[in-house]
Amino acid sequence: MSENVRIESAAPGVTSIVLDRPERKNAVTVDMYRALHAAIEAVDADPQARVALLSGAGGSFTSGNDIADFLHPTLDFPLPGIRFLQTLAAARKPVVAAVEGHAVGIGTTMLLHCDFAYVAENARLRLPFVDLGLCPEGASTWLLPKIAGTKEAARLLMLGAELDGPGAVRAGIATEAVPAGKAFEAALACARALAAKPPAALRITKRLLRRADAERVADTLLVEVEQFLQRLKSEEAREAFTAFAEKRAPDFSRFN
Ligand code: COA
Repeated sequence: MSENVRIESAAPGVTSIVLDRPERKNAVTVDMYRALHAAIEAVDADPQARVALLSGAGGSFTSGNDIADFLHPTLDFPLPGIRFLQTLAAARKPVVAAVEGHAVGIGTTMLLHCDFAYVAENARLRLPFVDLGLCPEGASTWLLPKIAGTKEAARLLMLGAELDGPGAVRAGIATEAVPAGKAFEAALACARALAAKPPAALRITKRLLRRADAERVADTLLVEVEQFLQRLKSEEAREAFTAFAEKRAPDFSRFN
């Protein structure tokens, strides 16, 4: 499916899904989204699998969507990234994330849909959608104000402020901040504990916990993606993506 998404058994009942493109800080390509989507569906369908464990290789979680894909997009609805988020949001079985280093864009919004997220104390979570001429995705415009408060959501989504591990816990995005290099170990311990529990009781509890929000999350994902697709074609976004490719600061002064 994608050589950059590694799927392996981390422990009995625990399927480890690793973003493995360290030379690009695990930036996610269209193929990788398809592999992630298929991996979550496979965990849900496999009676032997009880928990999914998401992590990144090489000291980063992910630098977010591959910006080259944004520049040369074959963009149509549904975007593979959004389809992955929809699958993750609707997952029946528990999903645990381990975050070291960078978690940019969808690297942070996907954590909103995980049941547990263990982040390194020196992790760097960022939602730079506005700086890229884009708008938020992943139902973050509904979930972040709800869990972090409207002022914190504005700081994260409008200013693009960065969070470290403890900041991510305070914002309600992460479960626990752990020493650098220990996120996978902490997430695996959580996943093992979940895998030993009665699986049907766990699935029902997850469904009940998400029931009140499920429709709102699904609806917000769609409303955001409509705007997101427009934004991808905008001159502001083109300037941001080109500036990134050319390793220069973007100049938005000509836009109104
Ligand atoms: N898409 C495409 N390429 C990316 C990428 C992305 N999202 N993130 C990093 N890369 C590339 C870099 O261009 C660099 O390529 P090069 O070796 O050809 O120069 C390589 O991956 C390594 O990244 P680098 O920037 O050198 O690492 P860093 O540790 O200095 O910085 C980040 C890491 C994540 C802070 C920085 O790469 C970054 O800001 N990336 C873009 C994040 C982003 O805006 N994502 C989109 C969110 S919607």
